[in-house]
Amino acid sequence: MKKLEITIKPESLEKVKEILFEKGCTGMTVISAMGCGNQKGDQESTFFKGGNFRINLLPKIQVIAYVSDEIIEDVLISIHEQIASGQVGDGKVAVYAIEDLMRIRTSERGDKAL
Ligand SMILES: Nc1ncnc2c1ncn2[C@@H]1O[C@H](COP(=O)(O)OP(=O)(O)OP(=O)(O)O)[C@@H](O)[C@H]1O
Ligand SMILES: [Mg+2]
Repeated sequence: MKKLEITIKPESLEKVKEILFEKGCTGMTVISAMGCGNQKGDQESTFFKGGNFRINLLPKIQVIAYVSDEIIEDVLISIHEQIASGQVGDGKVAVYAIEDLMRIRTSERGDKAL
């Protein structure tokens, strides 16, 4: 099992939701966030140029999803294919190994808890 932490522009949320459910993900948690990447929130330049510049945090969405190892590559490929715009700021996906997962209602563990 893996935990996906998908940080995206708010307008990409609908596509990411569709991809996750289409690929067999069973649930997700969505968090409203603020963030910046290499451009430090400057939406026009490709690289941060340094100097006197205030870091600007832009509205972002984080989608947290617990997924089986079998679908992970498919999900990552689809996110790139469907979300990459050719512009900066499309976002990032962090992939974490999950040590264990429990469904509280039944106490099922591991993949059975997905
Ligand atoms: N190193 C990081 N650590 C934590 N969060 C990050 C990091 N880089 C990016 N993020 C989060 O992801 C969001 C989108 O990042 P972004 O796509 O701009 O990354 P980037 O590396 O600057 O890529 P690009 O050059 O395509 O813009 C940021 O607003 C921030 O919320
Ligand atoms: Mg960026």
